[in-house]
Amino acid sequence: MGMEALDIFSSIFLLGLLFSLGNADPVDDKRALLDFVKAFPHSRSLNWNENSTVCNNWTGVSCSDDGSRVIAVRLPGVGFEGRIPPNTLSRLSALQILSLRSNGISGSFPSDFSNLRNLSFLYLQFNNFSGPLPSDFSVWKNLTIVNLSNNAFNSSIPPSISNLTRLTALNLANNSLSGEIPDLNMPNLQQLNLSNNNLTGILPKSLQRFPSLVFVGNDLSIVNSPPPVPLLSSQVYIKSRNSGKLGETALLGIIVGGCVLGLVGFAFLLIVCCSKRKSEDGFPGKLQKGGGISPEKGIPGSQDANNRLVFFEGCNYVFDLEDLLRASAEILGKGTFGTAYKAILEDATTVVVKRLKEVSVGKREFEQQMEVVGSIRHENVVELRAYFYSKDEKLMVYDYNSLGSVSAMLHGERGEDRIPLDWDTRLRIAIGAARGIACIHSENGGKLVHGNIKSSNIFLNARQYGCLSDLGLSTIMSPLGPPISRAAGYRAPEVTDTRKALQPSDVYSFGVVLLELLTGKSPVHATGGDEVIHLVRWVHSVVREEWTAEVFDIELMRYPNIEEELVEMLQIAMACVVRLPDQRPKMPEVVKMVENIRQIDTGNRPSSETKSEVSTPPRHIGMESSIPQ
Ligand SMILES: *[C@@H]1O[C@H](CO)[C@@H](O)[C@H](O)[C@H]1NC(C)=O
Ligand SMILES: *[C@@H]1O[C@H](CO)[C@@H](O)[C@H](O)[C@H]1NC(C)=O
Ligand SMILES: *[C@@H]1O[C@H](CO)[C@@H](O)[C@H](O)[C@H]1NC(C)=O
Ligand SMILES: *[C@@H]1O[C@H](CO)[C@@H](O)[C@H](O)[C@H]1NC(C)=O
Ligand SMILES: *[C@@H]1O[C@H](CO)[C@@H](O)[C@H](O)[C@H]1NC(C)=O
Ligand SMILES: *[C@@H]1O[C@H](CO)[C@@H](O)[C@H](O)[C@H]1NC(C)=O
Ligand SMILES: *[C@@H]1O[C@H](CO)[C@@H](O)[C@H](O)[C@H]1NC(C)=O
Ligand SMILES: *[C@@H]1O[C@H](CO)[C@@H](O)[C@H](O)[C@H]1NC(C)=O
Ligand SMILES: *[C@@H]1O[C@H](CO)[C@@H](O)[C@H](O)[C@H]1NC(C)=O
Ligand SMILES: *[C@@H]1O[C@H](CO)[C@@H](O)[C@H](O)[C@H]1NC(C)=O
Ligand SMILES: *[C@@H]1O[C@H](CO)[C@@H](O)[C@H](O)[C@H]1NC(C)=O
Repeated sequence: MGMEALDIFSSIFLLGLLFSLGNADPVDDKRALLDFVKAFPHSRSLNWNENSTVCNNWTGVSCSDDGSRVIAVRLPGVGFEGRIPPNTLSRLSALQILSLRSNGISGSFPSDFSNLRNLSFLYLQFNNFSGPLPSDFSVWKNLTIVNLSNNAFNSSIPPSISNLTRLTALNLANNSLSGEIPDLNMPNLQQLNLSNNNLTGILPKSLQRFPSLVFVGNDLSIVNSPPPVPLLSSQVYIKSRNSGKLGETALLGIIVGGCVLGLVGFAFLLIVCCSKRKSEDGFPGKLQKGGGISPEKGIPGSQDANNRLVFFEGCNYVFDLEDLLRASAEILGKGTFGTAYKAILEDATTVVVKRLKEVSVGKREFEQQMEVVGSIRHENVVELRAYFYSKDEKLMVYDYNSLGSVSAMLHGERGEDRIPLDWDTRLRIAIGAARGIACIHSENGGKLVHGNIKSSNIFLNARQYGCLSDLGLSTIMSPLGPPISRAAGYRAPEVTDTRKALQPSDVYSFGVVLLELLTGKSPVHATGGDEVIHLVRWVHSVVREEWTAEVFDIELMRYPNIEEELVEMLQIAMACVVRLPDQRPKMPEVVKMVENIRQIDTGNRPSSETKSEVSTPPRHIGMESSIPQ
């Protein structure tokens, strides 16, 4: 299938499949819902018939796996008017998801919602709620996404929000909130919007990582703390906005209805992780993981055994069908093994869906490899969340990383306003990536190979260390052609069949990444004319002629007293890219060496005399014996 045809993400549908269900009906929950709907005027009718079962027939209601409790109520745009009747919804004590967005609900935030201790996702945006926000948010320990935007809440922002350790998104925009913003020191918070309120005072330092757009329409003063150079997040934010140019946004135009099942070649991507729940409107799609890392395969009642989604443990996404239908998708990039899309759901959940081309192995082997890859839990390895295999489609689902890849950070527009990637960050990228690769190499009986190490497959994790993605694919994909592509600059000289790459070739590729971090240059780059230069060769030539300082990225020259660290990293890089595979260090050694760069710095660093000026060549780089070609 041509890549053009892939541009529209809507061509990726996984089949939603019918699910047969348990027969228990949660009597008390049903009663609570009936009380709720009877006492609450609404303009659209609901099919909540007391003679039918709640769990599989009621619009917008989903139950737990065993059908014993209602865990999700999603009633957007039903035309509710007035106050939520007290002591109705609050009786659904197992409720995890509540969406009443886009109604005309007024009154204050229902105080009895404090009974909903398991509430994780709360969508009340676009209503007419007024009065104060709940003062004690800490009763909902599991809250993950809160959207109260576009109401008329008029209190201050309660500091107890900072007790919500799982909160990833908070939208309070377009209310009448006043007072100062509390110091919400919440490392997990990824999305925030406080725009268009009446907030005053100083923007807390902990929130300065968010773009200023999320605070517009308030009267806030931003005290500029003396800027330490990095400013990484804002830099990257700008970049990621620019990168929107790359891809067109396409609506996931999925036709709702059972006929979807029949569409050949279309798979309907239904991602419902971890939580045992169904999508609404009686639409099928209850997917759940099994215990441990061995995920449940297949969807009960599937009409097409070829279409099954497999999820891994530890995934916190909740996508309902409706959310997914509205998801927009854009192309993030076309990589070595396929195209990656960013899919954004309405609740701001964002995932990366990677569509593989030319998988060369059968289903069994594919699944085995996915299970090896999906079982890896390491802070320096990007977790695979789910995969999908059918004859025509092979998909992988990852978390989205808004910071973009190391490649984008290094080689993104080097214009005037570019904020350079500072040395400390580069060092952390190297350390993290090395640890990640070492972890990968210890998997599958010490035989797993990453097979595609390059800067565009390295990201920053929450601690700003390098983190690897896209591993373990080379062995299951068709072999790549001769090294002509840009990616080829990473390929070790001994690799002729990419399926057979071994761990030493990962070490080589990692060495190229180190050189990239040091030089700021792409692994393959053009110089002036048509000549294409391989980074490894170029570094050798420059270093051989003793112009060592010229090897290093000009952007690194602004940081004082790092020359020795640079030279040390250069030595490690050169050791990794020696021509003979068995002369390269093993990954655990590389980890030690890279970690030692900074320890040497703080420890018994040689006297200042040896801290050579940048312009003087370092004494000994020790690589003469390893010059390739
Ligand atoms: C439910 O069933 C009972 C008896 O079977 C019937 O009287 C009642 O009208 C039904 N209710 C609805 C809403 O269909
Ligand atoms: C669901 O509703 C349909 C009609 O709307 C009915 O035929 C079916 O029996 C109901 N299923 C259950 C399990 O109540
Ligand atoms: C909350 O959820 C957990 C499982 O996630 C469950 O064991 C517990 O019973 C739930 N609490 C209530 C009040 O239903
Ligand atoms: C919200 O309330 C205002 C007045 O209080 C009213 O004019 C407006 O129509 C209400 N909006 C909705 C969606 O009900
Ligand atoms: C929160 O979630 C965890 C697991 O996800 C669950 O065990 C717990 O019961 C939930 N509820 C509360 C109130 O913590
Ligand atoms: C919020 O609005 C209510 C009326 O809806 C009013 O009584 C109350 O004083 C307001 N509070 C603040 C802090 O403005
Ligand atoms: C967080 O919760 C603890 C107890 O759970 C409470 O003592 C503390 O005051 C809360 N913090 C805030 C900021 O509300
Ligand atoms: C706030 O309201 C304005 C104008 O109604 C709208 O353009 C904006 O998108 C809203 N913001 C959010 C976060 O909903
Ligand atoms: C914002 O707050 C100030 C003082 O607290 C008040 O005078 C003003 O009317 C408020 N503006 C809005 C739009 O609520
Ligand atoms: C926050 O809301 C404002 C408008 O209310 C909008 O312009 C801005 O893009 C939003 N920011 C984010 C990050 O969603
Ligand atoms: C909250 O709702 C607004 C309006 O529908 C939407 O623009 C925004 O993406 C939502 N934010 C989150 C965090 O769910």
